[in-house]
Order: sequence, then structure tokens, then C-alpha cells
Amino acid sequence: MIKISPSILSCDYAKMGEEFKRMKQCGADWLHIDVMDGHFVPNITLGAPLVKCLRKCSDLVFDVHLMISDPQKYIPDFAKAGADVITFHLESDGDPAKTIDLIRSLGCVPAIALKPATPAEKVFPYLDKLGMVLVMTVEPGFGGQSFMYDMMPKVEAVRKEADSRGLSLDIQVDGGVNLQTAKTCIEAGANVLVAGSAVFGSPDPKDTILKLRTAAER
Ligand code: DX5
Ligand code: ZN
Repeated sequence: MIKISPSILSCDYAKMGEEFKRMKQCGADWLHIDVMDGHFVPNITLGAPLVKCLRKCSDLVFDVHLMISDPQKYIPDFAKAGADVITFHLESDGDPAKTIDLIRSLGCVPAIALKPATPAEKVFPYLDKLGMVLVMTVEPGFGGQSFMYDMMPKVEAVRKEADSRGLSLDIQVDGGVNLQTAKTCIEAGANVLVAGSAVFGSPDPKDTILKLRTAAER
């Protein structure tokens, strides 16, 4: 099943609660919350206290993408604040197996993100313990960048490996996903599409979300 997770990095931060409600009305499945620490990536966004407040505004799945150096330190805060899926980067600090166990122990779904330079095989040792793999289709840090088509073999490789093990893994793509690139992502094996500027920059986000969801059929 295809799921659409609008990235709130592109929303109006002055009215986030309303934006969360609007995304539900527009048919979003999840809400993608980009957390950046200014260290793992050269940008700073938001922390757990804000997620806690936003939790009161939406019952959609909170898909928290941690672009931070020390995920283990902050994961309990985000879990308590109401995160559902917690994604950390394989390139961040700490033993990934322990980070996965921590996320699960807090009742959340663990996911690993791969930066463009990290090969698919690096995530294979953890696949059986994960709910999702995020294949970045831009360098993490900023919205509005161009989609990297050369990440599609990575999506295919992760899907192939998951299928060969009989795993019903979610595969997410994040960065530059729009009405032009969504079909390619789905055909490569992705089923969770993150879209920031494509959704929030659209004059009709509801139509854009529907078109993203049905991209493979067109
Ligand atoms: C980038 C973030 C993305 C970003 C995507 O580091 O992880 O979630 O918001 O934005 P668009 O869809 O505009 O490329
Ligand atoms: Zn993201």
C-alpha cells in the first residue's frame, strides 16, 4: 500500500497545528517530521517539546526523521512526545542494533535512513529488525532539492533483499519526490513517499497527494 507522508519542513511554521489538520483533510497518511541538529546536517529545525504540542493536533502517524548525531540520547524524548515511526541515520553515532532495540522498547517502529553515499548492503544486517528503510534521494539537510534518480538501484536492492527474506518492509524515499518522480520511486519498490515542497507548494495539496498516491497507475 502506498503511503504519503508530507514533510512539514516545507509548511508554515507559524501555524503548524493548523497545517497538520489541513494535511489530514488533504488525505495524508503520515506526517514526516524532520529533526535536524545543526551538526549531523547543516540546518536546525525542531525538538521533542514541539512534537509533544503537535501531537494534540493530529492523530496521523508521526513519522520522525532524526538527522542528528546522537540519536540514542534523544529517542526517549521523541517517543514520549508521541512519535510513531522513528528513523535514525545509519551514519549517526551508536550501535544501530542497540538504537533499534531502544526504539522498539519504547513502543515505536524503528527505521534506518541511508544517505546517498551509503550503499544498500550496509542496512542488510538490520533488515529483520526494522519496520522501514528510508533511502534518501537528496543529501539530507534542506527541502526543495533535485531528486537523485541514481538512488533507484538502492531502493531496488533493499526491496529485493526484503522480498527474498519474506519481509513486508516499508521503503521510504525522501527528497525531491513530486508528480514527476513518484512513479519511478514506486516502480523501484518504494511504498512510502515523503514530499515537502511538492505538497506544501501546491495550490491544491489534496489533488497532489492523490496524484502522488496513484502515480504508478498513470
Ligand atoms: C531533507 C528532508 C526532507 C525534505 C524533503 O533533509 O529529510 O524530508 O523536507 O523536501 P522536498 O520534498 O522538498 O525535497
Ligand atoms: Zn526527511
